[in-house]
Amino acid sequence: MQLAKRLDGIGEYYFSQKLREIDELNKQGKNIINLGIGSPDLSPHPEVIKTLQEESAKPNVHAYQPYKGSPVLRKAISEWYKKWYEVDLNPDTEILPLIGSKEGIMHICMTYFQEGLAVLVPNPGYPTYSSAVKLSGATPIYYNLKEENNYEPDFGELKKIIDATKSPLQGVRGLFVNYPQMPTGQLPTKELFEKLVAFARKNNILIIHDNPYSFILPRWLSGDNPMSMLSIDGAKDCVIELNSLSKSHNMAGWRVGMLCGAKERVDEVLRFKSNMDSGMFLPVQLAAAKALSLGEDWHEQVNRVYGKRRQKVFQLLDVLNCTYSKKQAGLFVWAKIDQKFKDCYDCSDHVLHNFYVFITPGGIFGSEGDKYVRVSLCTTEEKIEEAIKRVAK
Ligand SMILES: Cc1ncc(COP(=O)(O)O)c(C=O)c1O
Repeated sequence: MQLAKRLDGIGEYYFSQKLREIDELNKQGKNIINLGIGSPDLSPHPEVIKTLQEESAKPNVHAYQPYKGSPVLRKAISEWYKKWYEVDLNPDTEILPLIGSKEGIMHICMTYFQEGLAVLVPNPGYPTYSSAVKLSGATPIYYNLKEENNYEPDFGELKKIIDATKSPLQGVRGLFVNYPQMPTGQLPTKELFEKLVAFARKNNILIIHDNPYSFILPRWLSGDNPMSMLSIDGAKDCVIELNSLSKSHNMAGWRVGMLCGAKERVDEVLRFKSNMDSGMFLPVQLAAAKALSLGEDWHEQVNRVYGKRRQKVFQLLDVLNCTYSKKQAGLFVWAKIDQKFKDCYDCSDHVLHNFYVFITPGGIFGSEGDKYVRVSLCTTEEKIEEAIKRVAK
């Protein structure tokens, strides 16, 4: 069958392939410890599950829902943004619930980008940014995030790319940004967000700030509050923010996220999205609203578990002779590999085939990750201890 041209250069997602290889090894009895994927293994809060159960037993909740999401969920999102990020969002006009933030990335690309336009994406960064840009017909251009620059963009480099992208392309239209950054775990600063907003306004580009990790560790690690780029003055003129309950509320499989920004942006993206899906199951939306109302205790409890696992992952990385910063946020630890390995793939394959432990090669997030690996915190302390034992042997 002839495939559409838009799939040129788009491969199967790395993890989708790798999980097949891991399955195969498990069938051979290898009992792989998977420290690859960032899918929380802990449960949502019991009240969230109870809300889903009770609501789904009601007779009048099974119909299609409004394309803009339930007003109850939009109100909960607005209150959540106010409480934690000190951002005012009008629940009727400035919030669009999503089926996970991943779909938001695609919708934004389909709404604003097309052939002839360029979009800046981070290297290293979440691979979906460049795939979605390519699927829209636009051209992704990578900007580098380097350890020596605290994984912040080099604004001189960004400007040079913009100036050089005038022809044959018609210019840079968008910039993907994500802090706390995946995969490097770098936290944002207010100054960085201010510089980004000023840069986007000056150069007339749209920033897409992808923010699914702000509740994992920073506040409980360093006292910093979770940050939203929309808290910066003037941000609504040039920023769309994506957020998600996948990581913060252990609800990755529930598929609940949100897009926040100016009314015009929400309306524009809705023009595309309302042609793609018919909304989310109401009980899921009501349970998500419940999750967003959870207090400090919930996040403290979740982060206490991740904090302990992190210490174990540091030990594992020490045994592997990797180096890393201890001031990282998010569901992973990003670490530089031992020089004895040719690159991250060599290191990851060595660990998989000799110790039956899977850690993600950093190169899948871009060439800047070639000398790094990423280790997930989404498995039990016992399993990480077992991984340490296997490697130490
Ligand atoms: C940086 C980043 N953005 C977005 C997502 C997708 O999140 P969601 O489950 O909300 O679609 C992920 C998931 O791993 C991620 O790492």
